[in-house]
Amino acid sequence: MNIYLETMGCQMNRLDSELLVSRLCAAGHEIVDDPAHADAVLYNTCSVRQHAEQKVLSRLGADGQRKQAGLKLIVGVLGCMAQRTGQELRKRYPQVDIVCGPGQLTRLPELLTAADKGQASVAIDPDRKHQPRPTGCEEIDDMDLARDPSRSSSPSQAFVRVMRGCDKFCTYCIVPYLRGPEISRRPDRIVEETRRLVQAGRSEITLLGQTVNSYRWQAGELSVRFSDLLAKLSAIPGLRRLRFVTSHPVDFGDDIFHAMADLQNVCPYLHCPAQSGSDAVLKRMGRRYTRADYDGLIDRASEIVPDVSIAGDFIVGFPGETEADHQASIDLIRRTRYKNSFIFKYSPRPGTAAAERFIDDVDDATKKSRNNELLAVQNEISLVNHRRMIGSTVEVLVEGPSPRADRQPDAPPPGQTQLIGRTVGDHIVVFNAPDGLTGQYVDVTITGATALTLFGRHAENQ
Ligand code: 5AD
Ligand code: SF4
Repeated sequence: MNIYLETMGCQMNRLDSELLVSRLCAAGHEIVDDPAHADAVLYNTCSVRQHAEQKVLSRLGADGQRKQAGLKLIVGVLGCMAQRTGQELRKRYPQVDIVCGPGQLTRLPELLTAADKGQASVAIDPDRKHQPRPTGCEEIDDMDLARDPSRSSSPSQAFVRVMRGCDKFCTYCIVPYLRGPEISRRPDRIVEETRRLVQAGRSEITLLGQTVNSYRWQAGELSVRFSDLLAKLSAIPGLRRLRFVTSHPVDFGDDIFHAMADLQNVCPYLHCPAQSGSDAVLKRMGRRYTRADYDGLIDRASEIVPDVSIAGDFIVGFPGETEADHQASIDLIRRTRYKNSFIFKYSPRPGTAAAERFIDDVDDATKKSRNNELLAVQNEISLVNHRRMIGSTVEVLVEGPSPRADRQPDAPPPGQTQLIGRTVGDHIVVFNAPDGLTGQYVDVTITGATALTLFGRHAENQ
């Protein structure tokens, strides 16, 4: 059947969708770009903030109308929102034929066949509270290993999962309830999957985990830490860049920073969310570190890894956040000098400790203005960081034509295209160059900068 798959949310969802595409195509289905030509529309959803769920509900509204008008269409809700809402979603939205949580995606081909025969399904994991701790993830892990490298959305980049789930239970976060307990994958399987991807031309690999740096594989005497895994992967011939996201501040030993400094293809890039710069807020968030711990961590990383590039996440308007707490977050952005920060307005998620214990007492206008203030400070810092790079020559992995070719002041000359790519530190670079460089590593001299983008000259264009 023709399947339209829309992916919302994080990189883990993008990876899940890619693996699903491999699996669905192996089962004889075809992926289409236009939902109007689909026999089934599938949404791989996100529940991290309420806003993300509303988007899915509006899609379901439109699909419901099409079905009521007589169209034969299978509608599937996959991923975190499926796991969160389960049977309830089908009750409220009977146009939904398939509800399938992130831990049940291997079953999707069978659920589609059932839906085609008119049989609806709800496939979600049982509540983790009432389950024994799983010892492995072999069955769902097979989906990662069975992937067809040629299906990955980029010819030069790919994601590889190193672990599933999360055990941190930050009080605001729904993820541990939806993606289940933390389980590290077997190192030999991660190496095998990465080797196959690299052999198929994916020279930049991003390792994924909700708390990727807490990876640990233990079997009898054998214990593989995250830094050991980096060393094993780094030795794969042809692997030019190895990154990992997202790190939790409490799970860093210096061994990881040393691996980053010593292994030539491990990128000097950390995505290490602070969430807040205030001790009082960090405590209510259940983050398990203080501001001083976080500052110390950043100092160690900067000492051990030359030119380390750090990205952060912040939540504004967490319950009880005062103006002084907010100023502490501003101060943290100024101190850390992040490459960029992702800033989110607090959104209470049903069932989380924060939603149950605290009143969402920061009004939306204040959340909005705090969000804008953090963004403005971050942009100021990003601009200074970027301007410092002007005049230097950096290696860029070309991702393709720049989607907003009008951004560069000088239009590309005939025979050239405006391309976009990234540095080892994840800085975005836009430059003119001959066509056909997508997927290649080129040297670019930086000539200009905004807060979000570096502009440059391709070395052969000097
Ligand atoms: N409200 C707002 N932002 C949230 N995040 C996680 N849960 C919430 C929530 N309830 C943010 C955190 C996390 C990022 C993926 O999403 O900053 O790092
Ligand atoms: Fe959510 Fe915290 Fe786990 Fe990240 S570490 S997924 S924010 S609970």
